[in-house]
Amino acid sequence: MSATLHRRLLAWYDAHRREMPWRGHPDPYAVWVSEIMLQQTQVETVRGYFARFIDAFPTVAALAAAPQQAVLKAWEGLGYYSRARNLQKSAQTVIAQGGSLPRSSEAWATLSGVGPYTAAAIASICFGEPTPVVDGNVIRVFARYFGWADDFRKPPARAKLADWLQPHIEASKRPGDFNQAMMDLGATLCTPRTPSCGTCPLRGNCLARSEGRQDEFPAKPVKKTAPTRQALAVLVRDESGRALFTQRTEEGLLSGLWELPNSAVTRKPTRRDALRTLREQTGLAAARAEPLGTVTHVFSHFRLLLHVFAVAAFSGAPDPTRRPPACFAFPDDLPLATATRRALALPRSRAPRSHRNRGSTAHWQQAPRRDQAP
Ligand code: ADE
Repeated sequence: MSATLHRRLLAWYDAHRREMPWRGHPDPYAVWVSEIMLQQTQVETVRGYFARFIDAFPTVAALAAAPQQAVLKAWEGLGYYSRARNLQKSAQTVIAQGGSLPRSSEAWATLSGVGPYTAAAIASICFGEPTPVVDGNVIRVFARYFGWADDFRKPPARAKLADWLQPHIEASKRPGDFNQAMMDLGATLCTPRTPSCGTCPLRGNCLARSEGRQDEFPAKPVKKTAPTRQALAVLVRDESGRALFTQRTEEGLLSGLWELPNSAVTRKPTRRDALRTLREQTGLAAARAEPLGTVTHVFSHFRLLLHVFAVAAFSGAPDPTRRPPACFAFPDDLPLATATRRALALPRSRAPRSHRNRGSTAHWQQAPRRDQAP
C-alpha cells in the first residue's frame, strides 16, 4: 500500500478537492496571501476575506505601498492581526529587494510570518518543490495512519513525519497537489471528531481505523486552562452618533487597532471606575456611567471579560496628541478588534436622549443603525 500512497491520495484529490479561488492559477502572491489567511482560519471564512483583500491589494507592490490601517481594516474580523502586519512587512522587504518573490521554501521562510509549513505549501504549490507540509491536518491523518503517539508540538516528531513523507511527495511528481491533498483529507474526512473513514483513500492501512482508536490520535498533551482577564470599556457617542475610540500601541496584542477607552481590572468594575478610565485614557469628563453589559472574547491564551459602560453626557474633546490617541469615528471607518465590535452591538442603555452636557458642544443621542456590528 505505501508504494501507492501518493496514487491513492491524488486520485481522491482529483475527484474531491475543494474549490478555492487561488487553486488552478497559482499566482505566488495570491497563494502567499491565502496561506497566511489559512494559518489560523478555516477555508470557508477565508474565501470572502481573500477576494476582498486581493481586490484591495492586487499585487505585492500595492500591498507594500498601502497604509497599514487599510491593511488592518481588510483583515478586520480574521483575528491574529500580526499575520496582516507581517504580510505587509514582508511585502515591503520583497519590494526593497527588487520585487521578485522567492521560489524555494528556504527563501520563503526568511520572510516574517512565513514558517516552515507555509513556506513548504507555497514553494510546492507555485514552484513544484517537493517539500512536505506538516500542519495540524497532516499530523492528524498520519498520527492515525501509523498510530504514532508522539507529541507533534515537538520538532523531532514533526521531522520524523516529514522524513517519512519525503519519498512519497517526490514519487508523486505533483508536490503541490500532494500537499493540498493531505490538507484537504485532514480537513474534510479525517476530521478531529467522527472522521469519515468509510470513504478515506488511506483506510486500508490506517492503524487507528483498524483498531477503532481514531479518538486517541494525535495524542493530546494536557492543556492548561486559559486564564481569565477582566477589563472595563467606556462607550461614549457624540451628537452625530460616532463613538469614541482609542488606538492600541504599535506593539503587542491587536497592535494598531482601535477600541473603546478601557483599562484592566481585577474585580467587577464600578461606575466610578468607568468614569476614571474615561478621564485617564482620553481627558474627557463625565458625571454618570451606566453599565451596558459584559462581552466575553476568547483569545489564543486568555479569556477576556469586558465590562462595558455607556456614558450619556460628557465634557471636553479628544486630544490627538495624547497617548493613547483618541478620536470620535463611525465604527466602519476604523479597524476594530472583534471584542470592540461586540461591545458596540450591546443593546443601548436607557440613558435619556436629551441629557445635556455641561460645557460641551456634544451630548448623548441615539446612534444610527449603521453602528451595529454586522
Ligand atoms: N490549509 C492551509 N493551506 C491549505 C491549502 N493550500 N489547501 C488546503 N488546506 C490548506
